[in-house]
Formats: sequence, C-alpha cells, structure tokens
Amino acid sequence: MDQAQNLRNVIKSQNVKNVENAKVITITSGKGGVGKSNVAVNLAVHFSKMGKKVIILDADLGLANVEVMFGTLPQYNLSDVVFKGMSIRDIITTGPMDIGFISGGSGIVGLNNLNREQITFLVRNLSLLNDLCDILIIDTGAGVSDQVMEFVLASPEVLLVSTPEPSSFTDSYSLMKAMCKSPKYVKDGTNVHLVANKVMSESEGNAVFLKLQSVVNKFLDSDLDYLGYIPYDTNLEKAVRNQKVVSMEYPISRATKSFENVAAKLLKEDENVHYRWGISHIFNTLIKDRV
Ligand SMILES: Nc1ncnc2c1ncn2[C@@H]1O[C@H](COP(=O)(O)OP(=O)(O)O)[C@@H](O)[C@H]1O
Ligand SMILES: [Mg+2]
Repeated sequence: MDQAQNLRNVIKSQNVKNVENAKVITITSGKGGVGKSNVAVNLAVHFSKMGKKVIILDADLGLANVEVMFGTLPQYNLSDVVFKGMSIRDIITTGPMDIGFISGGSGIVGLNNLNREQITFLVRNLSLLNDLCDILIIDTGAGVSDQVMEFVLASPEVLLVSTPEPSSFTDSYSLMKAMCKSPKYVKDGTNVHLVANKVMSESEGNAVFLKLQSVVNKFLDSDLDYLGYIPYDTNLEKAVRNQKVVSMEYPISRATKSFENVAAKLLKEDENVHYRWGISHIFNTLIKDRV
C-alpha cells in the first residue's frame, strides 16, 4: 500500500464527520502589506458581533501580525499538536470578543514528514474545530509560494485582498493565474472573492475589481466576486500602531463601516451556499499531498 492510500484509510477509519458545520475562509494576496491580517481580524470582529464563533488560524510564517493586533502571545502552535501530542483545544488563545486564535508556527511546514500516527492525531484534532467554531479564517502569507497555493487550492472560499497599486494588481493576477492553471484547481467548487483595500473612493474600489475581473475572465476563463472596498483610513494605521483592531478601537470610522459591510455580504451570500468542503477536507487535502 502506498503512503497516500495509507493516509486515505487513516482518514476513513477515523469517521471524520460528514456534516461540516464550520465555514472556512482563506485570506490571501499576491503581495505582502496589502491588509490581509487586518481583513482577517476585522472580519472576525464583525462575524463575532453577528453571533458567530470565530477562530483565526495564522498560517503566515513570516509576520505574525494577527497576534500583535490581538495583544495575545500564544505559547503554543500547531507543531505542538503534531509533535508534542497536545490537543487543538489547548493551543487556542482567546482574544477580544471571544475570538479564538491558533498560531500555525512551524507546524504548517512540518506537515511534510509526518508518520501515520501523527497524521491521525492531527486530522482528528483539526476536525474538532468544527465543533469549536462557526467560521475558521485562515490568514496566509503573500505570494505564490507552495504553502500559500496549497491552502488556496484546498479552500472553497478564497478572499483575495488587492490594492490600487499596480504591483498589487500584477501580483493578484499572478496568484489567480497560478491557481487557475494548477491541476488541483476545482473551478466549480471555488469562490474567489475580492476585497479592494486602501482605496480613496468607492469608484477606485470598483476600478480595482473591474480591471482584475476583466483579465481573469479573458485570460483565465474564470471569475471573481466583488465583496467591496475598504477605504484608506488613518484610524486603521493608528489602531495598528497601538496594537489594536480598528473595528473595536474606532467603531464609527470609515474602515470599520466597510469591514462591517464586507462581513455582512460574505455571510449573506453564504445563506445560499451549501458547504461542499469543510475543515477536514481542507486539511486532508493539504496533508495528503505531502505524504
Ligand atoms: N485600509 C487601510 N488604511 C490605511 N492603512 C492600511 C489599511 N489596510 C492596511 N493598512 C496598513 O498596511 C499595513 C499592513 O497591513 P496588514 O494587514 O498587516 O497586511 P498583510 O497582512 O497583507 O501583510 C498595516 O500595518 C496598516 O498600516
Ligand atoms: Mg499579515
């Protein structure tokens, strides 16, 4: 039996729940510094206000900025589940508004060399997240690295953050291209949503979307959904400098209002969507490819 078959049997024998009740949203971008972590944290705040239990998984190995904005210093990360046998419950830090936070740490990269027992343990633990949250937000690093691409390709809901900068446009297009051209891309099962960040006006946000949508339609035979824009807002910068979340620190700022709109739109679209994939699927896919 090859190792992949081995893994499929492990997953089957664990009776991973068929009903996946947590929604997974993977946040990504072509380049860094465009606002991914701010989108992750602020959407979490608004989902939480709407009564949803949210967990953020920080899968960005470079800059752990979610934990800074949260004012939490997680002691453990996913590698403690894999290599030290800790339960996923014990590595969740609780931030403001009861939002859970999991640091991926080197655990995400370390998925490479797992044995059967470790895989069983990890998949079982990750599927526990279905019972611990309604929405899992995965904040990935930027770019077309293998690690980011694997998360993107495994996710049913991808939220791409782009800004009006020309370099952000070309990098967003490169990311979309890498996704669409991958043999692992499941076109019918993937919704790519765009958030235009750091824009000066609603029309600049529309322009960011339309420009990207037209090349994606024309050259990649694929589509994008527009979730809306977040204005360039000095309150957001101020909040980040003070290690705070703008939606909590400046509740009536323009950025806060826009994050609220984006969160509401994402949940509303959701009402008509039957979750095809859930947490176990995503992590099974990630791990399977590494066996
Ligand atoms: N809407 C915005 N208005 C003003 N500044 C912003 C906005 N979004 C992001 N920024 C600035 O960009 C920086 C990077 O944002 P961050 O969310 O950390 O990006 P990423 O996670 O993509 O690297 C923030 O520290 C903040 O100063
Ligand atoms: Mg970030």
